[in-house]
Amino acid sequence: MGKTVLTYGTFDLFHIGHLNILKRLREYGDRLIVGVSTDEFNAIKGKKPVVPFEQRLEIVQSIRYVDLAIPEDRWAQKREDIATYDVDILGMGADWEGKFDDLADVVELVYLPRTDGISTTEMKRVLSAFDARHVEELKSTIDSIAQIVKELS
Ligand code: CTP
Repeated sequence: MGKTVLTYGTFDLFHIGHLNILKRLREYGDRLIVGVSTDEFNAIKGKKPVVPFEQRLEIVQSIRYVDLAIPEDRWAQKREDIATYDVDILGMGADWEGKFDDLADVVELVYLPRTDGISTTEMKRVLSAFDARHVEELKSTIDSIAQIVKELS
């Protein structure tokens, strides 16, 4: 019987770091199951995804390395999922290093290094520069500078 790998994440604004970890995790076994955090669970974690849960789930499910995408809506679900899906390996990015070691009695734990230089948080920061509010701020700054230049000349 082949090995089943399980991982979890929000996968908001799906990017190359997400793709890399799914590809690498799939290589650890024969079946990859991905728990995608619901919008409600993200709210509990203090995060507000840009892309709604149903779309994030569909995107992750469509990745060729992913055999099954399931909703993740609570912290305690991991132990249940491991039993339900007969999971052999729980794999997470290094940002979660050690956080799930309490599951070592039922599963093998693998923490993989993150892809450098990209994260959803950083993408949101860059996008926020184009947020309408910021554009208004920029306009009023430019107007103020124009006014000063006019007064000086
Ligand atoms: N991940 C990765 N390399 C990155 C970004 C994410 O390997 N550059 C991994 C994370 O370690 C996690 C999975 O992808 O195992 C899902 O990560 P998620 O938290 O959804 O994405 P992040 O881009 O890390 O989002 P945020 O900045 O909001 O934490």
